[in-house]
Amino acid sequence: MIDIHSHILPGIDDGAKDLNESLALLKIAQSDGITHMVATPHIHIGRFNNSLSLLQSNIENLKKEANAAGINIKLAVAAEVRLDIELMSLIMNNKLPFIGKINNTNYLLLELPHSHVPQGVDQFIKWLFKNNIKPIIPHPERNRDIQANPYYIERLKQLGCEFQLTASSIQGEWGEQAQIISTNMLKKGWVSYVASDAHSVKRRPPILSKAKQTVRDLIGPAEAHALFVANPVKLTEALFSD
Ligand SMILES: [Fe+2]
Repeated sequence: MIDIHSHILPGIDDGAKDLNESLALLKIAQSDGITHMVATPHIHIGRFNNSLSLLQSNIENLKKEANAAGINIKLAVAAEVRLDIELMSLIMNNKLPFIGKINNTNYLLLELPHSHVPQGVDQFIKWLFKNNIKPIIPHPERNRDIQANPYYIERLKQLGCEFQLTASSIQGEWGEQAQIISTNMLKKGWVSYVASDAHSVKRRPPILSKAKQTVRDLIGPAEAHALFVANPVKLTEALFSD
C-alpha cells in the first residue's frame, strides 16, 4: 500500500515531534504493509510556513535515518496545503509542492478549514484548473459544513475535485457522521484515495490495512486495490522516480 498523506517529518508541524517518533511511525507503517509513504507536512500560511527547501532537506535526512535504522519504506515529500488566497502567488512562483502529476496535470493536496467550506472556494478551484492544477481534497468527511450538508461534496465534485478519505474515519474513529459520509462516498464511487493522515504513534498512527479490509467488504477487492494501491501509484509515480 502507498500512504499519500502523513505528517511524519519531525518537528515541522503538528505531526511527529522528533526523529524518534518519525522512525516509530515508519516502523508501524512497515508492519502494516505500507511500502511507500508521502510525507505531507502542513503548509498553512501564518501557522506552518514550511518552505520547499526546508521540506526537501528534511525528507533527505529522514531517508538517511530510516535507512540507517533498517526501515524499508520508500519516502517522498509533498505538502497538505491549507486554502488561502496567498496560495495564488506561491503557485505562480513555483513555491508549492504538488503531490503528483498525471497526464501533465499537477495535483495539489488542498485542505479546507475543518469548520466550514469558505465562500469563494469555487472561484479558487476554477483558478487552479485554469493553471493546470487539480485539487485533491483530504478528509472531506471530517469537515463540519460537509457533515451538516453533504451537498458541499457534490459541489466540489462538480468542480472537478478528487477526494481522499482518512482510513480511521472509515473505521468510525472520527464519529458516526464522518463514518456515514465516508461509507456513502465509497458506495457512490466518489473516493480516489484513502490515506492515514498519520500524526503520532498514539493519536493517529499510519495504519491502512483495517480500512482496506472494510473497503473490500463494502465495495469489493478491485475497488479497494484502486484506492489503496493503484490510484496512489499512478498519482505519485513522478515523486518516487526522483
Ligand atoms: Fe493531514
